[in-house]
Amino acid sequence: MIDPKDRPSVADMPVRRLGVDDLRDCLLLAIDRKWLPEEAKWRLLFEVGEVYGIDDPEGGLAGTVVLSRYGPRLGAVSMVLVATRYGRMGLGGRLMRHLIRQAGDATLFLTATEYGRGLYEKLGFTAVGTVVTHIGQLRPEPEDFKQDGVRPARETDLEAIGRLDLRASGAPRAEVIRRLPRFAERTRVAERAGEVTGFGAAWRNVDNVVVGPVIAASTAMARALIAELTADLHGPVRLDVDTRHRALAEWVSSRGAVPAFSTTLMTYGGDLPGDRARLYTPVMQALG
Ligand SMILES: CC(C)(COP(=O)(O)OP(=O)(O)OC[C@H]1O[C@@H](n2cnc3c(N)ncnc32)[C@H](O)[C@@H]1OP(=O)(O)O)[C@@H](O)C(=O)NCCC(=O)NCCS
Repeated sequence: MIDPKDRPSVADMPVRRLGVDDLRDCLLLAIDRKWLPEEAKWRLLFEVGEVYGIDDPEGGLAGTVVLSRYGPRLGAVSMVLVATRYGRMGLGGRLMRHLIRQAGDATLFLTATEYGRGLYEKLGFTAVGTVVTHIGQLRPEPEDFKQDGVRPARETDLEAIGRLDLRASGAPRAEVIRRLPRFAERTRVAERAGEVTGFGAAWRNVDNVVVGPVIAASTAMARALIAELTADLHGPVRLDVDTRHRALAEWVSSRGAVPAFSTTLMTYGGDLPGDRARLYTPVMQALG
């Protein structure tokens, strides 16, 4: 234990780029804030994003933040965490300002919990939407499967999936898309007249299976993809549905995955690009 009077002031604790060797400390930090130790998620973020952190002089991490870049013009912000023992001392603000500098001219987005929102507003982020997280055992009805052409995704679909994602998200996310077949437990495409027009994935997190992304041309297609992705799954699933997709949210609730909590979608430095109406659920909130 360092004597409190000998402790470096928080202003002298530098921000550094973390590596996957720091994973364990990231998980401990998450646990400190009563978040789950989401190892698979953090591993993916270390692969596709830049993880920054501040070391606690007494061991472990005092804070983290992650920037995942999608080309030069868009970046996703996630894992904004400051250890309880360092709360309200300015570290969250320092980490975020560091990330904003690193991001250059890119538009940034994140989904804010009620704890983070005040901080992001101070930094210049604006609220642009609300995302409702639905959790529960999803039990699709036979009619939900009626769309033709939903089948497991194949290696040869990756290029078409990349194009669908580019159209929906408006930014190149090849690093994320390329990893999905391995990261996800199930992937499905919707194919019509030989063309892949929809895509969905479901991946296993600590306490549920997350259904995302779901990229579709209509709510009916999104429903069919989700039904195929969750058929015969044991345990709860999680879907993060923007309130703009009301019809999908109602269907998801009616099949058993009910609203659990909501977060605020926020942007910094510009509007979100892409045809977002096609993005029914994100890969995960951390990546959009
Ligand atoms: C949110 C969190 C990262 C903030 O970190 P922090 O280091 O305590 O924040 P800071 O001390 O840098 O606060 C920066 C500013 O935001 C303000 N602020 C911080 N939390 C706030 C809140 N909940 N409501 C309003 N303002 C807040 C502070 O007053 C401070 O303003 P100031 O610079 O004028 O004094 C931290 O509370 C945390 O890890 N919470 C749990 C995890 C979480 O919810 N993360 C956000 C995910 S979106």
